[in-house]
Amino acid sequence: MYNLDLNQMSKNEFLTTYWQKKPVVIRQGFKDFVDPIAADEFAGIAMEEMVQSRLISKRNGEWQAEFGPFESYEHLGERDWSLVIQALDNFSEEAAELIEPFRFLPHWRLDDLMASFATEGGSVGPHVDNYDTFICQGSGKRHWRVGDNGRHSEVIAHEALLHVEPFEAIIDVELEAGDILYIPPGFPHEGVALEPSMSFSIGFRANSAISLLSGFADHLIDNELGGQLLQDPQRKAITNSGEITNSDYANIKQQLQNLLDDDKLFKNFVGNFLTNAKHELDLMPSDEPFEAAEVSELLAIHAIKRLGGLRAFYFEDTLNDGVFYLNGEQINFNSEIAPVIKLLCNQVVVTPSELAPWSTNEHFVTLMVGLLDQGYWFWTEAE
Ligand code: SIN
Ligand code: CO
Repeated sequence: MYNLDLNQMSKNEFLTTYWQKKPVVIRQGFKDFVDPIAADEFAGIAMEEMVQSRLISKRNGEWQAEFGPFESYEHLGERDWSLVIQALDNFSEEAAELIEPFRFLPHWRLDDLMASFATEGGSVGPHVDNYDTFICQGSGKRHWRVGDNGRHSEVIAHEALLHVEPFEAIIDVELEAGDILYIPPGFPHEGVALEPSMSFSIGFRANSAISLLSGFADHLIDNELGGQLLQDPQRKAITNSGEITNSDYANIKQQLQNLLDDDKLFKNFVGNFLTNAKHELDLMPSDEPFEAAEVSELLAIHAIKRLGGLRAFYFEDTLNDGVFYLNGEQINFNSEIAPVIKLLCNQVVVTPSELAPWSTNEHFVTLMVGLLDQGYWFWTEAE
């Protein structure tokens, strides 16, 4: 278990002073930090087909980028390269533990856990992210520079890398294992390994209006909604046929507004949209379907764990109506099991003592049979 120590700051003080406002170094945010994953196991994960990984290196002053899966690292030499894996939380239960201390932020804001292994001189280059990131230094040391936000021209150092022009540093530090660097979106930054080192970045992303709108349009199309035609039965004759009048403009705008004002519809879209997996899930559906009687018995003695990267959310009122959202879908349930659905959404692990009162509830058992069969939740030992 990782305990986050914000150096005398309360979580709310951190949020008020730094969150989305300015970068900060939190020395020894994790005391006695031990990498959740060894570098060789990390390199092995980047050899898997479903994993999104990149190798970034600088040879003779030229940036190079290759995309995984990788077959070997032997050609790379001793320095100036770094291996990055996206959504490591989907593939390593141990690494996913690093997300837990950040649960004081809502999970729907979370993007993923990105991690990198870098040799001396290795870096991904100077860049700006759309993310709030907590960069947690693992083993080894890195030199980090962070510039002020504002306009930073992009440079194409390599077609696969979006770099920015050199910037003046407002933070210039060496990070050691357990140190954390928080960077809000828009602040340019660059980390260069001073020795072989691991780094773990917990990234939080906010959706842009454009991605919400295009997602909403897809939701309407998929559900055959929003096809109502504009209505204007009260129309009067006009003289300027080239004009879009204020009242016509208001009517057109209202047509869209009606869809946004339909909270049942829009909430349903938001629930589906926010639970969509951002990266491929390492799903392992069970070989044989579970039996209800067996699940009922096991629920009283075993903990259950949510698959890494799986997103499950509810709204207060949909929970009371018997609806939650899971992996891009709306799931209906009998509202008498709302308290345990809340646990499934809020906790990665639900313990046998929390599950026991529900282990004989047929609505819950039936739901769990489906979730276990699909590999969304799996049995684990209670801690
Ligand atoms: C890295 O781990 O090297 C890059 C992390 C970041 O800049 O967000
Ligand atoms: Co970055």
